[in-house]
Amino acid sequence: MQQQPIYILGIESSCDDTSAAVLCNNKVLANVVASQEVHRRFGGVVPELASRSHQANIIPVIHEALNKAKITKKMLNAIAFTRGPGLLGSLLVGTSFAKGLSESLQVPLLDVHHMQAHILAHFIENSNELNNMPSTPAFPFICLTVSGGHTQLVKVNSPYSFEILGETLDDAAGEAFDKAAKMLGLPYPGGPMIDKFAKAGNPTAFEFPHPQIHNLDFSFSGLKTSILYFLQKRQKENPTFVKENLHDLCASIQYTIVRVLIDKLEKASKLTKIRDIALAGGVSANSGLRQAVVSAGKKNQWHVFIPKLEYCTDNAAMIAMAGYFKYLKRDFASFDVAASARIDMDISNSAQ
Ligand code: KG4
Ligand code: ZN
Repeated sequence: MQQQPIYILGIESSCDDTSAAVLCNNKVLANVVASQEVHRRFGGVVPELASRSHQANIIPVIHEALNKAKITKKMLNAIAFTRGPGLLGSLLVGTSFAKGLSESLQVPLLDVHHMQAHILAHFIENSNELNNMPSTPAFPFICLTVSGGHTQLVKVNSPYSFEILGETLDDAAGEAFDKAAKMLGLPYPGGPMIDKFAKAGNPTAFEFPHPQIHNLDFSFSGLKTSILYFLQKRQKENPTFVKENLHDLCASIQYTIVRVLIDKLEKASKLTKIRDIALAGGVSANSGLRQAVVSAGKKNQWHVFIPKLEYCTDNAAMIAMAGYFKYLKRDFASFDVAASARIDMDISNSAQ
C-alpha cells in the first residue's frame, strides 16, 4: 500500500442503508450507517420510500462521518460512490451527491461496483474477525458473496479482476432467509431473526430438500416453495405449529441454506485448488454460516477470512476501500457517469 495519506469519502446508497465513511488509505476513520426503519411495516424495501429517506439522510450522515474522522471536506482527495447494482432511485441520490461534491471540491470521482466493494472490504485494516496471519487473503482467492440480491462464488485475481465461478439462477441466499422468515411471520429483514431463533433450535429437526444443480450455480426458489408447502400442511394439522416449533424451524432452514452454500464453496475450492477462502455480503453476518466456514476451513486446510459484522452488511467503508484501489490506478470516473441498477462484475471490470 502507498504510504502517502489519501483521504477518501465513500458514499453508499444502493438499497435501504444510507452510509458515509472516511478512509485514510485502508484505515477507517469513520463509518456511519443510517438504516431505514420505514420499510419494516411493509415487510420489505419500498423503493420510493428508500430514495426519499436517502435524500433526508445523506447530508447528516456525511457530516457525521467527517466530524468523526476529524477532517474537513477540503482534506478529501477523492469521492467514491456506489454506481450499482441496486435500486435506481436510491443509487441516484448517492451518485448525484457524489458528483456535486467532487465538482465543488475539485477532487476526482470514483465509481464503485457494490458487489466488488463487499469483497474488497477484506482489505480494510483490521476488517477480519479471525486474527489470521496473514490478515488479508492472498490472490487469487475465492469469495462467497451472499447478500439480499446476490449469491456468487467469485475468483478474485486482483483488486481489479473478478471472475464469477457460479451464481444463483433465481433467488439470492438473503432472499431465501427473508422469504422464509416472512412465512414464519417474522418481521423484515428476516435473515437476522432466523439467525437469532436458530441459536436455540435443532438444525436437523426438519429436513428440506437441497437443490440439484451440478455446476457451481445455486438455486433457492425450490427451497422456498418446499418450505411454503411444508408449513401449509403442518399448520392445517396444527394451527399453532409455527409458534410451537419456531426455534427448530429457524435452525433447520438456516442449516439447509448454509449446507448448500458450504457444499458449493468446497466444490469451488477443489476445482480451482484455491485455499484462501473469504465470505462477504450481508448473509456473511449469519452465525451458522460463519461457524460452518470455519469448520470447513479446518477440514480442508483453508485460510478463512470472515469480515467483522460492520463490514458484512451494507456500509460505505467498503465503498471507500474499493475507491482507494481505483485511486491508486488513477482510474477516475468522468462527470457523466450514470447510476446503473444492473452492472456485471465483468463489464465494470473491463473498464479498468
Ligand atoms: O449486503 P446486504 O446488507 O445488502 C444487499 O446488498 O443486499 O445484505 C442484506 C441481506 C438481507 O437479505 C438480510 O436478511 C441478510 O443480508 N442478513 C442475514 C443476516 N444479517 C443480514 N441473513 C442471515 N443471517 C444474518 N445474521
Ligand atoms: Zn450489499
